[in-house]
Amino acid sequence: MSSTIHLPLIDMSGVREGDKASIRRAADAIRTACCDIGFFYIINHGVPQAVIDRAMSAAGEFFAYPAEIKRQVAVNKRHRGWHALGGATMYEATKPDHKEFFSIGLELAEDDPSVLAGEALRGPNQWPQYMPSLREALSDYYQEIARAGADLLRVVAVGLGIDEDFFTDKYTKPLQRTQMVYYPPQPPQAEADQFGVAPHTDYGCITLLYQDNSGGLQVRELGSNRWIDATPIPGSLVVNVGDLLARWSNDRFRSTLHRVINTSGHERYSIATFYDLTYGATVDPCDLGIDPALSLYPPVAAGDYILKRIDDSMAYRKKQA
Ligand code: OGA
Ligand code: NI
Repeated sequence: MSSTIHLPLIDMSGVREGDKASIRRAADAIRTACCDIGFFYIINHGVPQAVIDRAMSAAGEFFAYPAEIKRQVAVNKRHRGWHALGGATMYEATKPDHKEFFSIGLELAEDDPSVLAGEALRGPNQWPQYMPSLREALSDYYQEIARAGADLLRVVAVGLGIDEDFFTDKYTKPLQRTQMVYYPPQPPQAEADQFGVAPHTDYGCITLLYQDNSGGLQVRELGSNRWIDATPIPGSLVVNVGDLLARWSNDRFRSTLHRVINTSGHERYSIATFYDLTYGATVDPCDLGIDPALSLYPPVAAGDYILKRIDDSMAYRKKQA
């Protein structure tokens, strides 16, 4: 059943060029969307469609390999590589998600100071040797989506009335995670607690999602129990506020529950990017314009917060009993 409520759609044209009126308009719309529902679409976001198309077709090709082959790049402790079906269980969910994913992060060599220092989640990506085009396609996507993320945060800063470049130095060595997600078709009569992704909020700062035209992503409307369809809109990205940005905003912004149920009858693919900041960057509501007396949260290091949330939801990170 499709709902009649729609998420806001925000035009980012002019933002990257620095056009003041465009930035102002987008900033007001994004601030409202972040405070009301925490979810919105962006169009004219600057990620070339050709880059998206290449990454999406690489996703189709990669996930079609047999599990034994994909297992050659099985996820490691740095959260890089392939996660098999059943490896992720959302907080409070009864069943693991019905999805596979392939995750990359900032490409850092083994002798990079952060890697040498043993910073969690850091290191080189795990690329399949049998499919060199994946590395090319996804690396390009990673870079382009990062530019869109930076544009968004510039606009978020303007919306909050803080310095336009406030977020820039928090992203010098981002914990950005980009993952291609594959949802096998689910039978319509599947059990009610079987989801592609069970209801959850995202952990980090801000998420940018490209979804194919299958549909199946739903967002929980605040104050009611209704699930709103985030119907695919060609050329758009779906953006949502994560828990860390909600915390940073002192709960002015909402980090909203969402889920995926793939009843399209065919495979669904998406590419989710958790556009997160430098490990040691401090997340303190006072820096986003909150009076210290009114701050609800003590400062926290971004990486510590994100790491804990990943540890809690990923089976492969749990200690064996
Ligand atoms: C996620 C998520 C939605 C999708 O990975 O956190 O909500 O459409 N993904 O893949
Ligand atoms: Ni999510």
